[in-house]
Amino acid sequence: MSNKKFHLSQEGTDTSIELPVLSSTLGQDVIDIAKIPETGCFTFDPGFGATASCESAITFIDGGKGVLLHRGYPIEQLAEKSDFLETCFLLLNGELPTPAEKAAYEETIKSHSHVDSCVETFFSGFKQGSHPMAMLCGVVGAISALYHDATDVANAEDRVETTNRLVGQMPILAAMCHRHFSGLPFVASDTSLSYSENFLNMMFGTPGAEPKISPVLIKAMDRIFLLHADHEQNASTSTVRLSGSSGANPFACIAAGIAALWGPAHGGANQAVLEMLEEIGDESKIDEFILRAKDKEDSFRLMGFGHRVYKNFDPRAKVMKESCDEVLAELGLENDPLLKIAKRLEQIALEDEYFVEKKLYPNVDFYSGIIMKAIGISPEMFTVIFATGRTIGWISHWHEMLSNPYRIGRPRQRYTGYTKRDYPG
Ligand code: SDX
Repeated sequence: MSNKKFHLSQEGTDTSIELPVLSSTLGQDVIDIAKIPETGCFTFDPGFGATASCESAITFIDGGKGVLLHRGYPIEQLAEKSDFLETCFLLLNGELPTPAEKAAYEETIKSHSHVDSCVETFFSGFKQGSHPMAMLCGVVGAISALYHDATDVANAEDRVETTNRLVGQMPILAAMCHRHFSGLPFVASDTSLSYSENFLNMMFGTPGAEPKISPVLIKAMDRIFLLHADHEQNASTSTVRLSGSSGANPFACIAAGIAALWGPAHGGANQAVLEMLEEIGDESKIDEFILRAKDKEDSFRLMGFGHRVYKNFDPRAKVMKESCDEVLAELGLENDPLLKIAKRLEQIALEDEYFVEKKLYPNVDFYSGIIMKAIGISPEMFTVIFATGRTIGWISHWHEMLSNPYRIGRPRQRYTGYTKRDYPG
């Protein structure tokens, strides 16, 4: 608690209340508005642009400076020096693991890197070619049936077991979405491989054959998962928290997060970026799309640009761009036409006064799609990859919320409908 307070009074009345300010470790302090209803009013903040919905110690973002910290560590340093599973341990436990803890955690995740035999039956219910996000959302929700009786959300050990199950199973489910979407047989999880190598083998391998995955692609895949791991109270994480606040099954809460992530304004943007670059097709058409993005009468947005919080470069986009250059060079695709359009588009947008004035910079989704396409991942799978990386963030926030005193989330509204009226006759 800080010593600062706000006094709120209503003109023309003697209504006045004192609102305490709660201090934060970094970034904005918060005004505790619990007493606001005493004024006879609610606060009004559609889109929650000015609202802190909870207290958290997991991730900090400074949108003005383009800073992203996971448990205090800058994302750039984690991307360079850590790996995805170590970052999962960090997000969940709050500290980097010792070498022994890291080895033990990797073994724990390997022990959960399998799915129940009924999962193949779940997939068989989807037509081949069904959108992978539809399948992922459905299957993760369905898996809640397997663990419902074994999960007491009030029990910390059960919650940790749930986080391990999800980190272990999500890459398998994601790969199964790709295989069923493409009409290919499933490739079994091979825990003799590293986490991201196992994932790529399940995606692109041949059942029963020796894995043959490039170390450069394995590193790029691991970095993509790491860069998507968590991002404070974004729409999908807030959805998981709100679902979890009712005590719902954690797999069902993650399915809710997957649904929220799917939208093109959120995690669906990576697929939309690639579709936009393909629609632009040639650098000569970029100006036309920039004009459309600025036209209020046109619903078109420049996908991969802008962010509710970042009013500077998204630090993940910078790291993703470096990976993009590495992967395309490794694959001999440095002249990839889409990459050339993307780089030209970025350059033009960053010089255009509309984008400069509105502080619209490339976000995490701008370059990720180009890397994933280069790796051989279809655009329909991009958001599934995002969800696979983000699961640790979702479930770490869920665990953090349930590890502390909480109440069911229940916002109010500004009612603008009819006043009371009688049924006719
Ligand atoms: C992610 O929240 C997170 O942390 C999300 C995320 C995560 O890791 O979880 O970072 C992942 O979702 C990244 C964002 C991916 N989405 C896109 O790339 C889609 C394109 N971007 C826009 O839809 C938009 O920028 C949002 C949705 C990302 C942000 O929406 P806001 O904060 O509600 O912004 P806004 O709509 O209030 O825009 C402010 C102004 C508007 O103009 P005015 O009404 O002030 O005249 O900027 C304009 C908008 O029209 N604008 C854009 C634009 N983004 C905003 N104009 C053209 N192209 C764009 N991309």
